[in-house]
Amino acid sequence: MANESKPVKITETVLRDGHQSLAATRTRINDMIPVLEQLDDIGYNALEAWGGATFDTCLRFLNEDPWERLRTLKKYLKKTRVQMLLRGQNILGYNHYADDVVEEFVDRAVNNGMDIIRIFDALNDVRNLECAMKAAKKSGAHVQGALVYTISPYHKPENFLQVAKDLVQLGADSICIKDMSGLLAPYDAYALVSTLKSNLSVPIEVHTHYTSGMGSMTYLKAIEAGADIIDTALSPFAMGTSQPATESMIAALRGTHYDTGLSTDKLAPIAVHFKQVKKSLEKDFNINTNIPIDPEVLKFQIPGGMMSNMLNQLKEQGAADKYPELLEEMPRVRAELGYPPLVTPTSQMVGTMSVLNVKLGERYKLVPEEIRDMVRGKYGRLPGPIDPAVQQKIIGDEPIITYRPADDIKPQLAMFKQQLTEAGYPNASREDILSYALFPKVAIEFFKKVAAGETTPSPVVTKAPTAPNIATTQMQAIAANVPGTAITAPMHGKVVSIKVKDGEIVRKGQVVLVIEAMKMENVITAPADGVVKAINTSEGAKVTTGHVMMVI
Ligand code: CO
Repeated sequence: MANESKPVKITETVLRDGHQSLAATRTRINDMIPVLEQLDDIGYNALEAWGGATFDTCLRFLNEDPWERLRTLKKYLKKTRVQMLLRGQNILGYNHYADDVVEEFVDRAVNNGMDIIRIFDALNDVRNLECAMKAAKKSGAHVQGALVYTISPYHKPENFLQVAKDLVQLGADSICIKDMSGLLAPYDAYALVSTLKSNLSVPIEVHTHYTSGMGSMTYLKAIEAGADIIDTALSPFAMGTSQPATESMIAALRGTHYDTGLSTDKLAPIAVHFKQVKKSLEKDFNINTNIPIDPEVLKFQIPGGMMSNMLNQLKEQGAADKYPELLEEMPRVRAELGYPPLVTPTSQMVGTMSVLNVKLGERYKLVPEEIRDMVRGKYGRLPGPIDPAVQQKIIGDEPIITYRPADDIKPQLAMFKQQLTEAGYPNASREDILSYALFPKVAIEFFKKVAAGETTPSPVVTKAPTAPNIATTQMQAIAANVPGTAITAPMHGKVVSIKVKDGEIVRKGQVVLVIEAMKMENVITAPADGVVKAINTSEGAKVTTGHVMMVI
């Protein structure tokens, strides 16, 4: 321990990750306003308050304009910097956007009050951060480059150091270790932070989750290794799958070289307020905020939320008994696909691929388009090599791209503006155009509510939606009456589009239908040459496993 004091700084997550982790991101701006000035007085490094889920939830469930929320936060937070989380070229969504949209978004975010932008890419491919980082630099924001933490043979401290060096080269003002699943063990944190600190001069921030029960220990060892900033959540929104508690970390460091200098007395009344907020969210949105830790995540290195998500998918597919197989399958799929870190959207992709493999009995028999694109390199460079046999099965002899994926995307901003004009919003603001670009359907619904006067400051409280209930559709046994080859649904899902017409000649391998299952689109191809004799479903219809959708 060094002799001179080195106060640890704290980024408070109660306005973003805290309620995103424990309360489905439902905290409303009206729940925050009463304590914003008090929070501003604490002396935090920053208040994290914005990100993909916050933005989406504002529009979708809270009838709040996320841009207005940002401006309101900024009005009250006069001393403390506001921070957001940005998914690189994905901005706040799940797909790559053109550079002009990324630049416009960053410009508007900073212009509306954003001070710190934490930028990450699910694969740690820095090429996917370049555009957003340049734009953030230009707008004058503090640019933080984040390393997505995961465990694999390709994620050793020296690998992370290389990514961090690249980010600093691109202008990162600080580096964050983003441990979204609570996998970072205390002594691994010590080793990783030590490696970064001895090679870089920018501040190092650590972001972990309590999911596996190690969060506070991880912070303590990271601090001993020289971490400058830690992310914590005020106690009512701490622990469980959220961050370690702010008050506890302040108390743990008090009187040491690392003393934060922050007052837990000042935090107490704010915590009382958020306790009430939590209660009201539970009631208003019917959510359970009591999420226990789950050390099992360490065994399979799978994020906690993902495990329950996958189990639900299996249940929906009527294959809950295959859960033990699924737990073995997920790490296998991840290894074969080059060890992508499991964070949105790669976690969903690897999870769905594993569910399909287990459910269908044949591995990679049905491959979602997103997985094909990942193998093609369209999400960026994978950390490790892809298993050659698996690659062959998924994309055959197609080449893997070696350039920055967004180089393929033409400017999109004018197109989004045009679409909004056609939808009846010719005077949409620059911010509205971005809301639409990121969440098209949700934004249009929101604009309708604005026109009807149903938005904040008097938020219309809506109940949290329950998981979509896959209705059992009537399985007309037309296959029995019409001779030919039946194309049956390989899983429960929804028909997104039908690519052929009655009477049309189809070739073996031709795409006939697209089914959406588990949030991914799956292409169904003709098993043989033939003529479409009957189509027994429609676009938008729900289908269950085995349902005869078409006869050829
Ligand atoms: Co987080």
